[in-house]
Amino acid sequence: MIRINEHYLKLQASYLFSDIARRVAAFQTENPDKNIIKLGIGDVTRALPPACIGAFHKAVDEMADDSQFRGYGPEQGYGFLRQAIAENDFQSLGAEIAADEVFVSDGAKCDTGNIQELFAGDIRVAVPDPVYPVYVDTNVMAGRTGAANKGRYQGLVYLESTEANNYVPAPPAEAVELIYLCFPNNPTGATASRDQLQAWVAYAREHKALILFDAAYVAFIRDDTIPQSIYEIEGAKEVAIEFRSFSKNAGFTGTRCAYTVVPKDCIAYDANGSKQPIHALWNRRHTTKFNGVSYPVQRAAEAVYTKEGQAQVRELTDYYLNNASLIREYIGRLGYSFVGGENSPYIWIKTGEDSWDFFDRLLNKASVVTTPGSGFGACGQGYVRISAFNSHANVEEAMRRIEMALG
Ligand code: MLT
Repeated sequence: MIRINEHYLKLQASYLFSDIARRVAAFQTENPDKNIIKLGIGDVTRALPPACIGAFHKAVDEMADDSQFRGYGPEQGYGFLRQAIAENDFQSLGAEIAADEVFVSDGAKCDTGNIQELFAGDIRVAVPDPVYPVYVDTNVMAGRTGAANKGRYQGLVYLESTEANNYVPAPPAEAVELIYLCFPNNPTGATASRDQLQAWVAYAREHKALILFDAAYVAFIRDDTIPQSIYEIEGAKEVAIEFRSFSKNAGFTGTRCAYTVVPKDCIAYDANGSKQPIHALWNRRHTTKFNGVSYPVQRAAEAVYTKEGQAQVRELTDYYLNNASLIREYIGRLGYSFVGGENSPYIWIKTGEDSWDFFDRLLNKASVVTTPGSGFGACGQGYVRISAFNSHANVEEAMRRIEMALG
């Protein structure tokens, strides 16, 4: 008898964004004339930067020529891309990250979901609340939690991100071994200061813990005082892994390219308390289960770091930030309190009512899709997230409709 992994049965409902997509599809079927504007899932709408497209085309042409064709590439990514990442995203900030500490992959979602398999089944895991659901669900699947009760799984430590702490949790009083942090935050849009990140690194060092730092939204930081990488914090290399993506800066959500930095100094411990470099474990996993991102996609990603690519990515992220400031303006005028949308494409709005009720109201009255905050955790109840990823015209129209519906 083939038996299932019973931990999957603990998962609550379906994956948040699949759930929303189903509701939206049902609404569209019932209301075929409505023009729905989607400010829900953080999916980009603008074309890839011309610099990336040029490199992409050129690489495809190489693949059409026997003398330049490439088959399997290195699982960890081509040297040209790993080098460009290390130099531009880290060394330029004074963070000593080497090219061979960068693992290129097909997504930060996959990497943040997969990384937990390197660690023991009985470690204490801390997740933010609200949280990007992947961090929680993958630990549930791996059996690190008990059953769910009122939107929380037994055994997880929830780091509450609320108005009271400006949506940036401090390290807990108790000891945990694995900590998920995401800044600029998904879903709240909050950012962490240098002092706040320093406190987390100090905590991780004291407790021999590991920080999983998701920086997928780093390209939206405009305030120079906000750290872009956890490795800008002294001592972080031993206790932190960082995840980045080309999805939100250069529009690669459909093209797929991301990377994970595992410094060689970063360690975990075996049952005897001996140090084990995580780099070797992740390399073993990556080479066993992954065969690399396609060559043209890696060439397209490399082009992000050219002078033109940098300017084009800046223009793209400025465009979405401009949408975000329009959303902030309308929401502020409607009298709601909110956070985010300044160094982030997400705006987190305190609605004063049930999240799904508010979501339904906006869908039914304004034909605008948002994301209900309760889908991100208990602390998200009463909030919705609005994403700035859409055309400026659509965001303007959506906000006009929301103003009519709620004003
Ligand atoms: C979101 O809307 O939270 C993101 O698009 C999800 C993701 O990047 O996987």
